[in-house]
Order: sequence, then structure tokens, then C-alpha cells
Amino acid sequence: MDQETLPPHVLMFPLPLQGPVNAMLKLAELLCLSGFHITFLLTDHIHTQLLKYSNIHSRFNAYPGFRLETISDGLPENHPRSGAELMDLFNSLKIKTMILFKDLLTSGKLNSDLRRPVTCVIAEGCMGYACDVVNDVGLPVIYVRTFSACCLWVFFCLPKLIESGEIPFMGNDLDRQIKSIPGMEGFIRQRDLPMFCRTRNLPDPDLNHYLQNLPEITECSRAHGLILNTSDALEGPILAQIHAFCPNLYTIGPLHSHLKYKLLGQPSSLPPSSNGMWKEDMSCITWLDSQPPKSVLYVSFGSLAVMTKDQYMEFWHGLVNSGSRFLWVIRPDSVTTDPTEIPLELSKGTEERGYIVGWAPQVEVLAHRAVGGFLTHSGWNSTLESVIEGVPMICWPYFFDQQVNSRYVGEVWKLGLDMKDTCDRVIIEKTVRELMEDRKDEFRKSADEMAKFAKECLMEGGSSYANLERLVKDIKSM
Ligand code: UDX
Repeated sequence: MDQETLPPHVLMFPLPLQGPVNAMLKLAELLCLSGFHITFLLTDHIHTQLLKYSNIHSRFNAYPGFRLETISDGLPENHPRSGAELMDLFNSLKIKTMILFKDLLTSGKLNSDLRRPVTCVIAEGCMGYACDVVNDVGLPVIYVRTFSACCLWVFFCLPKLIESGEIPFMGNDLDRQIKSIPGMEGFIRQRDLPMFCRTRNLPDPDLNHYLQNLPEITECSRAHGLILNTSDALEGPILAQIHAFCPNLYTIGPLHSHLKYKLLGQPSSLPPSSNGMWKEDMSCITWLDSQPPKSVLYVSFGSLAVMTKDQYMEFWHGLVNSGSRFLWVIRPDSVTTDPTEIPLELSKGTEERGYIVGWAPQVEVLAHRAVGGFLTHSGWNSTLESVIEGVPMICWPYFFDQQVNSRYVGEVWKLGLDMKDTCDRVIIEKTVRELMEDRKDEFRKSADEMAKFAKECLMEGGSSYANLERLVKDIKSM
């Protein structure tokens, strides 16, 4: 077959974590729908998890142009790859995986008669070192950032914040306003910056680590463009700031919803999407079916957050005492104690209004008519999923972008309450009552409005819709 007549062949390399892999798989589907050939590169560890619990193979069987490849992340299989040990994964990807990635690109292993050689690489931007490897072999790279633009903008401003003496800070005046982030004046405080800006000892190794790797996070000039899983409706003003550094921005999110809209016009032979790395417990949907409309608070802290036993007990009592109905995801590895030491059974009286699972079909849960609020760690995917379904949030951010995201939810978008830096049963109880009862009408109104704006971006004529068309056209011309 004349290779020139074949569609573009895109190699996609996500950061091997639940959130980014989920988002990139949605992007892969969107590109497959445009007729592209995709080679999707997963680490062995993530691939094994997905094989156990997701339906990735049956879902992607529907796309003849999709192919999976695997690569080692360089860590032993029993490494936790979460909580305090997450940095090991980043270091190993940079040092060990990159050598294997270069081999893969140059070995010819990705070539076949049925595909063109790789025409373009789409890689997670915080693996900026991948760009060196790809550019060395003469291919264009497009970066993807799967976290929020507001957090990305904070990263861009870190040198300015250091120069002005605003970071690092010791954490004893966390309500102090931050002045050196254009576009965030007046509402961003010390406590809304990523955790590594707080320090106890100088020089601080955590902050130093981020600063040393900052060029990898903010560097755009060697890439053809930058894809962001967000939309003008959500982050328009901040996107305008980022634009000055990355002129070729493709804001095409929220990706999960964008895909849903694109599939509306397709024959529905696809099995439902399930990209989880834990087994989804579908019994929670049956439980939700029997609950009154908008009565349930969904509680989940994503795929990486880890809490202490004391924090867990505060949530336990706060939720039970709030009197609200709740569906709580307690991931098997999410509490830093022996699982036998924590209560997982609800007592008589509470068992009727509470339900606990190890992992939920989150998008389906948030879309369920019985769900009226989301207690979340403010991971970017969770935030987008909640925004699209018009579900108000209580935020308890854990790390990285989540502190910034939760400030946007609480103060900028007015979609809920930000509980950061507190973990106290009395405050949890009060906050749940405020969201689910006292101020529910106010939050639901703004959540409905934001959902409408976010969805409009995905329709013909909307910004995310147009940006995806431009991305497809640009890749075709490579
Ligand atoms: C974290 C960050 O917060 C995120 O912003 C960053 O880009 C990567 O690291 P994570 O903890 O995985 O990510 O949170 P989030 O981005 O919210 O992603 C979690 C994903 O898991 C969501 O897509 C959610 O739908 C899914 N999920 C979560 C389930 O399917 N079931 C569950 O029970 C819980």
C-alpha cells in the first residue's frame, strides 16, 4: 500500500497515572474518530492494572487504527507509586524509561506496512525530556497537560514569586494575598498555592526539586503546540495569560465530555468506557437508584491521595454526623494504616443512608439523578467531571494542582466550598450541611450555569469544538 495515502500515525505517551491516562485515552478516541492511526504507550505497571480492571481492549477493538505498546517505568512491581513515593516514579521515568523510549522510536519496532511511520508524538508535557528524544529523531511533538491551566499558570509565575520574595513561606500566615500572579490578584492566597511552596526549612528539597524541573513543566518552545484539557468557559482569562508563552494552544476539554458528544452521532456498538485501575463496584449504582433526587453526597479523593487514620476518622464522624446520605469511595491503598484498624462497616441507623465502595464508576455516579454534591480532593479530572454534570463540590485538596483548583471552585466559579487545610469532624459536618441543605439552591444554580457554558464549548461553533478541528487539521499537515 502506498504509505502516503495512509492516515497520520500518532504516538501518544501519557504520564503513567490514573488521571492523565484516562484523559489521554479520551483524546486517543477522539483522534481515532478522525481516522488517525494511534500507538498508545503505557507503562507495564499501568497496563497490568488496566488489563485486570478496565475494558480497554474491548473498547478499543472498535477502533482498527488503535494499537497499544508497553514500556517499563523502571520501578519494581511492588513499588506503591503514590503518596510520598510518587517522586520515585518521576525520577525513574526521566532516567530509565527515556532510554527505552529512544530505543522504541529508533528501532523501527513501531513501523508496519499498514501504517505510516510515526508522524507526530503527543506526550505529557511534564515529561519534557521526551521532547529531546523525539526532536532528535526529527519528529514534531505536541505537549498535553492534563491538569488545570490555572495551576500551569502558577508554575509559569514561580520565578516571579521567588524574585518578589512571596515564596517560599513558612505557613504561619496562609491567608496572606499573593500579588505576583497576573490574573489572580485579589483572590489567590498562600494557602492556595501548591504545597511545595510552603516550607519548614530552607533550602527546601521539595521546592528545589520543582524549581529544577520547572523548565520541563513550562517549556513550550520546542513543541509544536500545547493541548489543554480545559475550555474557554472555565479558564478563559488564565488561558489568555498562558497564550503569551505558548501561542499555539489547543484547549479541547473537558475531554471526557467532548468524546461523549462526538460519539452521539456514531453507531453505538462501543462498550461503555471503563479505564479504571481498580475494579469498579457497580452495586453503588443500584444503591443510588433507590435514593431521592440530589440527596446523596458522593465522596472520593481520586487515585493518589493518601490520608492518615486520624484524618479518616474525622471524615467518618463528620459524614455520619451530618445526617446526609453519602456514597464514599475508600480505595484499598488510601489510608496509611492497616485496613483492619479502620471501620468500614456502617452502624445501624447509618447503613441506610451511607454506602461504601473500593472504586466507583465515577462519571456515571456524578451523572446520577440522586447525587447532589461531591466531596473531592479537587483532582482536575474529578473537577471537570463534576462541572459537566452540574454537581456542586466540597474541596479537600491533597497536592500539586489541587490547592489552586479548589480556590477556583470555591472563590472564582462559586461552585461550592473549599475546606483546604482543615480536617475536623465538626467543620466537615457543618460544611456538608451547608452544601447539601442550607445553601444548596445557590450552589446548584451556579453549577447548572457553569455546566451549560462548559457544554456549549463542545458544540459546533464552540471553542473546544473548533480547537479540536484545528488540531486534527494541523496533525494531518505534518
Ligand atoms: C492527580 C491530580 O489531581 C490531577 O489533577 C493531576 O493531573 C494528576 O494527578 P488523581 O488523583 O488521579 O490525579 O485525580 P483526578 O485527576 O481527579 O483523576 C481521578 C480519575 O479517577 C477521574 O477520572 C475519576 O473519574 C476516576 N475515578 C476516581 C473513578 O473512576 N472511580 C473512583 O472511584 C475514583
